[in-house]
Amino acid sequence: MPVTTAELKPILVFDSGIGGLTVLREARVLMPERHFIYIADDAGFPYGGWEEEALKERVISLFGRLLAEHDPEICVIACNTAFTLVGADLRAAFPQMRFVGTVPAIKPAAERTRSGLVSVLATPGTVKRAYTRDLIQSFATQCHVRLVGSENLARMAEAYIRGEAIDDAAVLSEIEQCFVEKDGKKTDIVVLACTHYPFMANVFRRLAPWPVDWLDPAEAIARRARSLVPLPDGFEPLNGIDPAIFTSGHPDFTTRRLLQGFGLTVSQAG
Ligand code: DGL
Repeated sequence: MPVTTAELKPILVFDSGIGGLTVLREARVLMPERHFIYIADDAGFPYGGWEEEALKERVISLFGRLLAEHDPEICVIACNTAFTLVGADLRAAFPQMRFVGTVPAIKPAAERTRSGLVSVLATPGTVKRAYTRDLIQSFATQCHVRLVGSENLARMAEAYIRGEAIDDAAVLSEIEQCFVEKDGKKTDIVVLACTHYPFMANVFRRLAPWPVDWLDPAEAIARRARSLVPLPDGFEPLNGIDPAIFTSGHPDFTTRRLLQGFGLTVSQAG
């Protein structure tokens, strides 16, 4: 018996803004039978500068409402800044729900680097998390890991993907600390540890002082989500538009147009 789409619960994808779209597009490819609900907590954007306790409370209470309203199959937290802070609390608060997290890809970077010099480009919140330090301790003690917390890149990425002009010098000043030379060796991997940043990867490549591998975890996150939600026999691939909910209630016109390109339409709910 083919499974009808109506029987399948949606996958909820969450970020503070539009960065989670980099994960959604990979998830769509791997999970063609599913509907998605995209949630952007744009009223709280950017998460990078929030005080930890306040952000924790905000995200937990938001999820209380989201889970009650949308009853998703799983939740993908497509935000390093949120998940490194609140992932464990979300799982404790909602034990019936499965959460797929996004954390800085320090382990794969440590496995792949040849020079032993790895940089992690993230929000100021993510670089100061205990979670991030633990990842380095657990998987990368043999490497020199530089943590670079960028104040402005998430905002710049939002502007860039909406088609606004951004200044090369301003971008370079956010990324240049990632490039380290030490004992005749150079950084060869930069972990994109904010889901907004892959939107700017081409700009980063153009401005980089030397070529590096810019590690984007989106596909790995989508694969993890796929592994939790097996593909049913005889599924029907979906067409059509999925809902996006912005907590501000009023994303601007260019954001709406962008969402359309991702197969999303802004829903009034939430
Ligand atoms: N996209 C979010 C992340 O992966 C962060 C953006 C923000 O500062 O809100 O960390």
